[in-house]
Amino acid sequence: MSKNRARLLLVTTLLLAASLACQTITQAFTVETDRLTPAASPTSVGGQSGNDGPVNTPLAEEASPDNPQPGAAGFGDPYYPNFGNGGYDALHYIIVLDAEIGPNTITAEVTMQAAALEDLTSLNLDFVGLEVDRVAVDGVEAQYKRSGGELTIYLPAPLSAGEAISVSVAYHGTPGRGVDLSSRPEYEIGWGHYGEGVYIAGEPGGASSWYPVNEHPSDKATYEYHITVDDPNVVGANGLLQETIPAGDGETTYVWASVHPMGSYLTTLAIGEFDLETSQSPEGVLIRNYFEESIAQSSRNEFDVTGEMLDYFASLFGPYPFEAYGVAVHDTPLGFALETQTLSVFGSWFINEEVIAHELAHMWFGDSVTLATWQDIWLNEGFATYASWLWYEHAYGDGIMDDIVNDYYDVMASFPHQPPADPGADNLFSDTVYTRGALALHALRLEVGEDSFFDILYTYHETYKYGNASTADFMAVAQAVSGQDLGDFFQAWLYETELPDIPQLGLSADDF
Ligand code: ARG
Ligand code: ZN
Repeated sequence: MSKNRARLLLVTTLLLAASLACQTITQAFTVETDRLTPAASPTSVGGQSGNDGPVNTPLAEEASPDNPQPGAAGFGDPYYPNFGNGGYDALHYIIVLDAEIGPNTITAEVTMQAAALEDLTSLNLDFVGLEVDRVAVDGVEAQYKRSGGELTIYLPAPLSAGEAISVSVAYHGTPGRGVDLSSRPEYEIGWGHYGEGVYIAGEPGGASSWYPVNEHPSDKATYEYHITVDDPNVVGANGLLQETIPAGDGETTYVWASVHPMGSYLTTLAIGEFDLETSQSPEGVLIRNYFEESIAQSSRNEFDVTGEMLDYFASLFGPYPFEAYGVAVHDTPLGFALETQTLSVFGSWFINEEVIAHELAHMWFGDSVTLATWQDIWLNEGFATYASWLWYEHAYGDGIMDDIVNDYYDVMASFPHQPPADPGADNLFSDTVYTRGALALHALRLEVGEDSFFDILYTYHETYKYGNASTADFMAVAQAVSGQDLGDFFQAWLYETELPDIPQLGLSADDF
């Protein structure tokens, strides 16, 4: 690409950054209150009130085999205390789902295999909308209650810590949007039906719009899908297609499975009339792209660079962590793309080299190493943004990195913003998270030097791959690998509102 074209892209991204910045300042925050304040627990034990502390604080009485307790209705996320649930660890979900695309109705049965973390009398799943037909625990029909986004299941017999449990929920209806987390409608989407197709974009709270789930990214699990649709629709999903089974009546069941654990916001289905295009990266990683039939060839061509990018990122961050990569490109305008695991979601907008690099980089940072809480969102977005800059540096020459950093420093210096490691619950996708997060990584590179910096990125992924990491975990890796005391550096870049200087580039917020 010519320098001009690179410039053009940079300008486009700056415009995008500027508009994000505006939204950061003006957006109002609306929430579905039942998700942000703890639902009353069925037996009302313990003093769980308000949302000013973890919802899963120890109950007044210790759970024990003689005194089993209800599991908490929230995981205790600092931003969204009621997301997820306490008391158990989800291990595997089996999603059996029949979708009618025209009327947009589904009939499903979802089984969650889990392990109890404490002695339990009941447990909660997160589930919004739809109609529950039957709940069973280890094959025995169970009583349940719904309240807002919580599905409380009363266990037919108390469960002891460490025991395995299998919970099945049969349900039907028309899936809606997920939890309302923002005035920005594009962030409220779970099951996205657009006439001829369905996409799923569940970050942060949309998975519960289509299946009952422990909806917190810290409880990663493996998944298997058995999705039945009318021909000639096809189904793409996370992982690898295992089997297609004729289901009679002009229907086909697509069986997909993901080997590696996944956060619930990273689950996706692509349903519609799609072309499957399969290739490999130069180093041999499988790429399978699903393009809706009406997606233009020129848009498809944008993704040709994926294999080269993937191998480049693998050379920096460590081997590609999953069994395959690809994109599902839906012919509907989406205001974002989403890094759903092994199969990123794109709409007919936002198809460009920067976003393609960004979503791909999330496979290491976000999907393999998943944020520990939503407050750690910069570990996803700052890293993916910086990775896209690294791609530009690799593809278009060293000089471009300084230009990018200068321009974005200018943007961030031009308006007051929250620090990236505590942007606020209403600012998950704001500019400080993406851009200042990325600037912080570049500043770290200049602070510790090339070798240490890339060693830090590699070691961080290697240490936490397939699991979760917090900002503290990343800072500890950076200190250990570099051997430097980076306390003041991280404090300034990640936790203070004032934009720090980048002395090596002569950048100071005072100059703007
Ligand atoms: N994580 C996405 C990205 O890579 C942003 C998604 C924002 N939209 C949403 N519906 N959650 O930038
Ligand atoms: Zn991102």
